[in-house]
Amino acid sequence: MKRTKKWALSFSFFLILISLNLKAQEIYHEQYRSQNHFSPKKHWTNDPNGMVYYKGIYHLFFQYYPDSTIWGPMHWGHATSKDLVHWEEQPIALYPDSLGYIFSGSAVVDYKNTSGFGKDGKVPLVAIFTHSDPKGASAGRNDFQNQSLAYSLDEGKTWTKYAGNPVLKNPGIVDFRDPKVMWYEPQKKWVMTLATKDRITFYSSLDLKNWTKETEFGKDKGAHGGVWECPDLFSLDYHGKKIWVLVVNLNPGGPNKGSATQYFTGHFDGHQFISNSDKTKWMDYGADEYAGITWSNTGNRKIFLGWMSNWMYANQVPSVVWRNAMTFPRELKLEQVGNEMYVASQPVKEISGIVENQSNKNKMDAGKPMDLSTMFEKFKVPSKLDFELGKLENFSITLSNDENEKLVIGFDKAANQYYIDRTLSGKVDFQKGFAAVHTAPRLSPDKKLKISILLDVSSIELFADDGLTTMTDIVFPSKPYNHIEFSKGLKVKNIKYVALKSIWL
Ligand code: FRU
Repeated sequence: MKRTKKWALSFSFFLILISLNLKAQEIYHEQYRSQNHFSPKKHWTNDPNGMVYYKGIYHLFFQYYPDSTIWGPMHWGHATSKDLVHWEEQPIALYPDSLGYIFSGSAVVDYKNTSGFGKDGKVPLVAIFTHSDPKGASAGRNDFQNQSLAYSLDEGKTWTKYAGNPVLKNPGIVDFRDPKVMWYEPQKKWVMTLATKDRITFYSSLDLKNWTKETEFGKDKGAHGGVWECPDLFSLDYHGKKIWVLVVNLNPGGPNKGSATQYFTGHFDGHQFISNSDKTKWMDYGADEYAGITWSNTGNRKIFLGWMSNWMYANQVPSVVWRNAMTFPRELKLEQVGNEMYVASQPVKEISGIVENQSNKNKMDAGKPMDLSTMFEKFKVPSKLDFELGKLENFSITLSNDENEKLVIGFDKAANQYYIDRTLSGKVDFQKGFAAVHTAPRLSPDKKLKISILLDVSSIELFADDGLTTMTDIVFPSKPYNHIEFSKGLKVKNIKYVALKSIWL
């Protein structure tokens, strides 16, 4: 009797374990769920926030509404990763309060305890974010967005809001938000890069609590089709020379409509940013990279992450349990083309940690649809495909599935443009402008023709010319694409197929 009871108990425990495991699998494997991009278990997300690397952990906070799949009162959700690829969702870090919703911002490691938040030798992580007061907004006030602080003394696990919030009060600018803070070593001070409607305003501080206005940048520079949001400022090394990059997100007014990320290259002296070009440059030309900024405290590496959606339809995309994911993290580097400096991006090298297997194929028959799963044993999504192509001619590469849904990537020689055509890519009817062809310039005439695509269940990221031109588009095919067809005449020298593991296993 006793034995049977024991057996029954362990059997039911076993069943519970199985069902928990099944549940975990279901959660991250619903229709359209990205398999190698972070998305919250449930509900709404937009911008990545407070990205900071500390003690071997990458922290990713994110605009989060835990009660719905529609944008609402903003919190900071939290996820952590040891390798930028596998993410573990953590408890919510910051909740709205009497000063408002918790809008976007950044986080720094205050090693010198300039803020005084550190205690007993514990280094404070400090988050600098926008408090956006919904009551002020609906009353039509112009000062409802203010900058505030929160700190963590347990390496990012729990956060305490500063009692003296807000630390930077609004001077009467409706769009006054998204502080990105960095330590400026030559002058031993903090610099805040803030989006202030149609320009960037720089502030400085010795203690993160008292801020002094330095200068403004950009009223007459770059793209101005919408409000400037989510900026970032950092330097990159170019053959021993320090070049500053100012990232400015913009909504709307992107190169393919809606929200997008532009950037400027130039010089910063702790006081003022001067750009070295009048050209408008985009970090990603696709429709679905937005609010992209970089991790702080990563030394010489600059790792960029964007939100993989567009404000034109982010609230309507057809996922049910959660809404929206982040891009794959990208490493940034500078490249010069003629007299212009550009920022090129590539998936971070840590992608190697999810490589399942890889194979090559050369000599392909152009003009015939080919079954990807016979071309590459067990082709599946997510995966990465690297194409080495012949002469630079008009070409198209069509990915399709058995439902005849198609995603086309191509190049238009006369226009010198890459494109992604998602008009027939699957579910497109949830918003009028979603079914579209997006274009992006080929920036370097001399580059060998090489393109890479990162293909996930509901997204494609195109890295052309070693990441000099990048395009991110989301797609909602009813089944994964399993056929490929090259346009007639296209010389495909080689395709490397890299099968990627799901990050949620
Ligand atoms: C950008 C943005 C930010 C703001 C946040 C609100 O996508 O509009 O400017 O802080 O989203 O969720």
